Amino acid sequence: MIVVPGPASQNLGKKIAETLNARIVPVDLKTFPDGEYCLRFEDDFKNEKVIVVQSTGPPQDTNILQLLIMIDAAKDLGAKKVTAVVPYLAFARQDKRFLPGEAISVATFVKLIEASGTDHFLTVNIHAKDTLKRFSIPTENLSAITLLAEHFKTQGLDGAFSLSPDKGAIKLAEEANQVLGGDYGWLRKKRNRFTGEIQVEEKSFNVKGRDVIVFDDIISTGGTIAKAVKMLKTQGARRVYAACVHPLLIGEAKQKIMQNGAEEIVGTDSVPSSVRTVSLAPVIAEALARIGA
Ligand code: R5P
Repeated sequence: MIVVPGPASQNLGKKIAETLNARIVPVDLKTFPDGEYCLRFEDDFKNEKVIVVQSTGPPQDTNILQLLIMIDAAKDLGAKKVTAVVPYLAFARQDKRFLPGEAISVATFVKLIEASGTDHFLTVNIHAKDTLKRFSIPTENLSAITLLAEHFKTQGLDGAFSLSPDKGAIKLAEEANQVLGGDYGWLRKKRNRFTGEIQVEEKSFNVKGRDVIVFDDIISTGGTIAKAVKMLKTQGARRVYAACVHPLLIGEAKQKIMQNGAEEIVGTDSVPSSVRTVSLAPVIAEALARIGA
């Protein structure tokens, strides 16, 4: 088993390889003056099973193309099987035609992953599970919520209330509650499909004097979590924490969440960020060993 940590997932890829005790094949990335680049595997893997680790957070286009080039080249160089580990799947939120005429971007991305020669696809907390039905190759969708909840438990937050900021993400709060056991709930969120503005419906929770953790799959602009934190603090919550799997944290997202009263933002190393407290390496390595990647 060989692990190739792609340019977008150097640290996580190396950690996965260490956990699996697998050989690493580094990739040399040479960028030309016009912005194009050349990727070169620094070792041979003919007839071997290769795991390419490359998350596709910002800059999405570059990270996606590098992922596809690596997989295609690995096959071309004789890899027996290629497993793509893409912890954050870009465009996963554009899984429907929300407005007439819109492209279903994630459908295009899935087609490209398959066309590149991927034999097995692995991701973490995909935004909508139905997207997996678009693949004809085997897929794994892992969850990092238990790892995040366990982190909070070790920090003394056993018994905290778990909240998902969106009814669609209720499974996240349910899963966290399995670990924290302090009950759970969810909010209702509406997004204006023209402006992108979100509205979080006012809802009361029994959180007075209690610790609350808001679990989401993605933090992008921070608007969703910031609104949830503010509502909980107004309802008398003692401490409110933000937890997410994919901390994209665009622009002032972190400040926005903290200014609305959060104690801390805890994320995973799915994408590079300053809040990557919890590593996905154990859960990904365990899955890769299980599927014989
Ligand atoms: C969308 O439904 C996702 O689950 C997240 O809630 C969303 O992407 C968060 O976006 P933002 O941080 O920009 O509010």
